[in-house]
Amino acid sequence: MCAYKGDTDINTVIYYYSATGNSLYTARALQELLPEAELRYIPEALAEDSPSVNAECVGFVFPMHYFGLPLQVEEFLEKLTIYESPYTFAIATCGVPYWGRPFLDAEAILAKKNRKLHGKWYVRLVSNYIPYRDIAADWRISIRAWLAKRKIRKIADAVKNKEPHDTWQLLRKFCQRYHEDWRARQEKIDGVFQCDKEKCTSCGLCEKICPRGNIERPEGFPVWQHRCVECLGCLHICPVKAVDFGEVTKGRKRYRHKEIKVTELIKSGKSRG
Ligand SMILES: Cc1cc2nc3c(=O)[nH]c(=O)nc-3n(C[C@H](O)[C@H](O)[C@H](O)COP(=O)(O)O)c2cc1C
Ligand code: SF4
Ligand code: SF4
Repeated sequence: MCAYKGDTDINTVIYYYSATGNSLYTARALQELLPEAELRYIPEALAEDSPSVNAECVGFVFPMHYFGLPLQVEEFLEKLTIYESPYTFAIATCGVPYWGRPFLDAEAILAKKNRKLHGKWYVRLVSNYIPYRDIAADWRISIRAWLAKRKIRKIADAVKNKEPHDTWQLLRKFCQRYHEDWRARQEKIDGVFQCDKEKCTSCGLCEKICPRGNIERPEGFPVWQHRCVECLGCLHICPVKAVDFGEVTKGRKRYRHKEIKVTELIKSGKSRG
């Protein structure tokens, strides 16, 4: 068990990134199983001039995006200074585990700071990427939630005991190309978002959840500012389904992890540049 005290009383710091709650749920479930663990929201930490951490265990929990890291997670790992960390781990929540390279990419960044990942895990929940396909059926969501709970308990035991843990990262080259093509399209990606002004109630949730401060609402409706990282928070959070990703998401379900409230997502998702 972690006994180290850094410059605070925190043994474990878990950084998380989450648009629809899967990663927040996972990070929080883990926090509850670990002694003296603190959660920190990555876009908030990213906004600091020089983010740093001094704890015995440091973890990162994030969704897999295009077989790799979310862009703000990548940016954060580059920026973060890790003073002490005898044990560092990462968890990628996802719809389909094993195909991808999120941990390789994270380790490439950490290696520049003489750090590595001791523990790497996928936690399979539900894919929120509805431009590709609709949200899984409820029975499938329930089974995955049950399996995820079991897996998180195992991860907590491993973290407490500082056990090394590796996992598969398949089709690495293909995944790298796919991820890089995606990154190259970033500036244009939000051109595809539409707001149905007939449905929009100007509630402002889409603006509040955006981790990039990419949504302005000069007349009440969202206007995307071309700095999108495609987390899909605005698409899923809209209570009246006024936001669509082109035509393809029309009629598809929206998703939020059932144990995570909208307020928890927007509390952490105050607009940031
Ligand atoms: C832009 C984007 C790309 C995604 N790419 C993948 C992927 O390559 N593999 C996968 O299994 N899930 C993928 N997903 C699904 C998310 O990783 C998954 O739903 C995750 O658990 C969402 O976490 P969150 O609710 O914390 O945001 C993608 C989602 C988005 C928004
Ligand atoms: S969340 Fe939906 S209803 Fe609310 S302002 Fe945004 S688009 Fe309009
Ligand atoms: S505009 Fe929407 S999809 Fe893009 S970063 Fe903001 S919340 Fe995420």
